[in-house]
Amino acid sequence: MNASGNQPVRVVRSPEDLAVVVCQAKQAGQRIGLVPTMGALHAGHLSLAEASCQECDVTIVTIFVNPTQFGPDEDLTRYPRDLAHDFKLLEPLGVDIVFAPSVETMYPAGHETRVELGELGSVLEGACRPGHFSGVATVVLKLFHLVPADVAYFGHKDYQQTLVVRQMVRDLNVPIEIRVCPIVRAADGLALSSRNTYLSPDEHRQALGLSQSLQLAADLVAAGETDAARLEQQMRAHLAKVGGIVLEYIALLKSGTVTPVDRIEQETVVAIAARVGQTRLIDNRIIQPAPAP
Ligand code: PAJ
Repeated sequence: MNASGNQPVRVVRSPEDLAVVVCQAKQAGQRIGLVPTMGALHAGHLSLAEASCQECDVTIVTIFVNPTQFGPDEDLTRYPRDLAHDFKLLEPLGVDIVFAPSVETMYPAGHETRVELGELGSVLEGACRPGHFSGVATVVLKLFHLVPADVAYFGHKDYQQTLVVRQMVRDLNVPIEIRVCPIVRAADGLALSSRNTYLSPDEHRQALGLSQSLQLAADLVAAGETDAARLEQQMRAHLAKVGGIVLEYIALLKSGTVTPVDRIEQETVVAIAARVGQTRLIDNRIIQPAPAP
């Protein structure tokens, strides 16, 4: 529809208007791609929209700062919001529709049903942010119903979120294919995040410790280290040297799961969460075991 990228992105605010667009696309046999976001868009989000524009006939980006995934002491009220800027960024990509509903539209008075998760929702990010993944799964399922897309795009930046979404889709028989796109980083290695705007220049420098520690783990594994505890120890030592980082967890996980590994013998995801000043950051990296000598 907007493949030329010259037309302004069409902004839809109500589920009724969205249904008309979706129905027309379905009737025309078009492949629909859905990109759920909370806005304050950056190149990481745009990479998902680009993938959808390449693979689908119609791309719908949603922008909704979802209150149910924020804890009471989290940054819901100060989360960055700049819809006009977001629309400008999406325009040249060929995105067809931006669905930007209000909180009242998504959660009208009396709304009380939530998706409940198992073990997957209560470890790592789920342990640090109780209820977070239930809020994520609830809004993502609502979006999947509002936009019965063929494919939905998520970023590996939020590794555990991709597992939660895949699990939900499997468990609740949601007929949507889930695509996971690689992490987009700044030139200095910092994983792009809407929350990076909170960082002062000093905090930005400290935040680089996260991606540096993941790089260190990758380098050590490439040099033959296979012991997860020793890798974690080296990462912790690096973070301590950088300073200003309050570590929440480092986890070495069997890829595609949240199961910790003792040794790097197969594809492993190293995940890290930390606070730098008031800002909570997460990052991760896929590490392949070194080839046998
Ligand atoms: P948000 O943080 O806005 O992220 C939207 C999507 O962009 C997610 O799939 C996220 O993993 C992806 N993303 C963020 N930073 C990225 C980066 N540096 N590289 C690649 N992809 C990146 O994640 C959410 O919103 C919400 O939880 C949501 C799924 C929209 C539900 O409210």
